[in-house]
Amino acid sequence: MQPLHATAGVRVKESTSSPGTTAGPSDAAEPSSGRGLYSIAAHYDSSCCVLLTGATGYIGSLVLEKLLRSTTAGRIFVLLRPRRGVGPQERLAALLDGPLFHLVGPEHAARVTAVAGDILAPRLGLFDADEAALVGSVDTVVHAAASEWLGRLQWEPSR
Ligand SMILES: NC(=O)c1ccc[n+]([C@@H]2O[C@H](COP(=O)([O-])OP(=O)(O)OC[C@H]3O[C@@H](n4cnc5c(N)ncnc54)[C@H](OP(=O)(O)O)[C@@H]3O)[C@@H](O)[C@H]2O)c1
Repeated sequence: MQPLHATAGVRVKESTSSPGTTAGPSDAAEPSSGRGLYSIAAHYDSSCCVLLTGATGYIGSLVLEKLLRSTTAGRIFVLLRPRRGVGPQERLAALLDGPLFHLVGPEHAARVTAVAGDILAPRLGLFDADEAALVGSVDTVVHAAASEWLGRLQWEPSR
């Protein structure tokens, strides 16, 4: 299951463009002092197929909004677990209907597909058909699912 072993945000397949040599239409920047350029739009082009975890979270939702608004990434799978009786499809619909996505037109929703899963389960808790679809198409994994609660951190007073 090679694509799912990718490092977050790094494409597995050969890309037609490479960081440092291209700039996309919406996030191009002028070269400055020989520094290499990186373009999100060029990286996530229309041939790109992304698996994003944690799309309902703080980081993941920002990533999803950026992918939809600033790139032409052709297909974005979001791995979502059911919560409180709400299934992945409904969770995705509610997410895309939320205020963070107000700049993303409804036509972009077709690029996103929710797949049921749980990152703590064997094989990500995917149904066989979903796993086959992901293995056959995903070339980029952005892993933003986590169990984080910053409030649990204990800060020791400085001495
Ligand atoms: N927040 C920051 O400022 C910040 C900065 C730098 C790095 N990071 C890192 O980014 C990552 C995400 O942080 P965050 O702040 O975005 O966390 P978050 O808001 O708590 O979001 C966590 C996400 O992970 C999903 N998730 C948790 N357990 C899961 C499971 N078993 N299966 C599937 N999905 C699961 C949650 O889905 P549900 O909606 O189903 O719970 C939610 O979408 C963490 O590794 C964090 O260390 C965060």
